[in-house]
Amino acid sequence: MSSKIRTVERNDAPHRPPDWFEIRRPDDWHLHLRDGALLERVVAATARRFGRAIAMPNLVPAVTTVEHALAYRDRILAACPEDADFEPLMTLYLTDETPVSEIEAAASSPHVVGVKVYPRGATTHSSEGVSDLTTLGTVLEALASSGLPLLVHGETTAPDCDLFDRERVYLEETLSKVIDRYPSLRVVFEHITTREAAEFVRAAPARVAATITPQHLLLNRNAIFAGGLRPHHYCLPVLKRERDRRALLEAATSGDPSFFLGTDSAPHTRAAKESDCGCAGIYSAPVALEAYAEAFASVGALDRLEGFASHFGADFYGLPRNTGRVRLVAQPWSPPQSVGDGDSALRIFLGGETLRYRAVD
Ligand code: NCD
Ligand code: ZN
Repeated sequence: MSSKIRTVERNDAPHRPPDWFEIRRPDDWHLHLRDGALLERVVAATARRFGRAIAMPNLVPAVTTVEHALAYRDRILAACPEDADFEPLMTLYLTDETPVSEIEAAASSPHVVGVKVYPRGATTHSSEGVSDLTTLGTVLEALASSGLPLLVHGETTAPDCDLFDRERVYLEETLSKVIDRYPSLRVVFEHITTREAAEFVRAAPARVAATITPQHLLLNRNAIFAGGLRPHHYCLPVLKRERDRRALLEAATSGDPSFFLGTDSAPHTRAAKESDCGCAGIYSAPVALEAYAEAFASVGALDRLEGFASHFGADFYGLPRNTGRVRLVAQPWSPPQSVGDGDSALRIFLGGETLRYRAVD
C-alpha cells in the first residue's frame, strides 16, 4: 500500500502554478554523508544539486577535532564526481571534554562553520555526545565570543520523557536557558519538528535560526504507521502531529529568514532500517529539492522557495550566496524506490510517489 503525501491546499491560492521556475543554486545546511563506501554512494546526489552542504560529524569515531574535520573534508572531496561544483562545510562534534582551544581552532578554520551538540544517546552515533549542555560554560562562552554557531540536536534524553515530547522539553529545559544565558551565542536549532519550536525561533532574536527537513514538511506521524510499520519513515526527531507539520510549513513558507533548508538526509542500508532495532534516518538527498518544491507548491508558495533554499542559510552563516541557478519544471514524475540492491540498498524518500516538479540537470 502506498503512503500518500499529505498536503494542505491554500484556499486563496493566488495564481496558477508555474510551468517552470528557476532559483539560485541551493545549499543543504544539515546533511549526513557518512564515510567510506557509503560516502561514495551518496555524495553525488547532493553535489549535483547543492552548492554547499554541512557534513554532520556523527561518524564512528566522531569528528571531534579540526584535524579530523579537515581529513573528513578531503575524503568527501575525493568521493565527489570530478565535475562537481560542491563545497563540503564542516562541523565539530562537541563532547563533554572538548577543550576551548579546539573551539578557537575551529573558529579560525575557513572550512569549519559550526559546532554540533548531540545530547548523549539522543540519536544515531551520539554516545560520545554531551551529557548536559548547561554545564559547558567555558566552551559556550568561547563559542559565543568566536561567533561560530552552535548547531543543536534539540531533544531531551530523559528516559521518562515521552518520545514525542523530547524536542519541546529540551527547548524548555535546556536550549532556551542557554540562549538566554549567552546573549551573543549564535544557534541553529536543527531539524525542528514542533509548533513550539517554530514559534520559539520566530520570536527569538536573529542570532537564532532553524533548519527544517522535507519529511517534516510533508508527513505527519501517521506516516510511520500507515497500513503497517514503516521503518523508512522513522527518523529523529520523530515525525510529529499534523498541527506541527502545518506550523513548520507555515514557518518555512513565511519568508522569515530564520528558517532555512537542511535535509537531514541520513542514509542507512535496508538491512539496518528493516531490522529488530531499525536505525533512525531518512535518505532524501536524491529528491530533496523536488520534495521541498512539493511542500511549497502545496500551499501556493513556490515564490518563497528560493529564500528558504538558497538565501537565508548562506546569509545566516555569513557566506556568499551561490551564483549558479537550478530550473524546476512542472513535470510529474516518480522517483525510484531505492538505489542499490538487496540488503545494502538505500530506500529513497518518496520513492514511488508522484512529485509535481522535477529539477533539470
Ligand atoms: C541521523 C543519522 O542517521 O545520522 N538520523 C536521523 O534520524 N536524523 C542523526 C540525526 O540527525 O539525528
Ligand atoms: Zn541529522
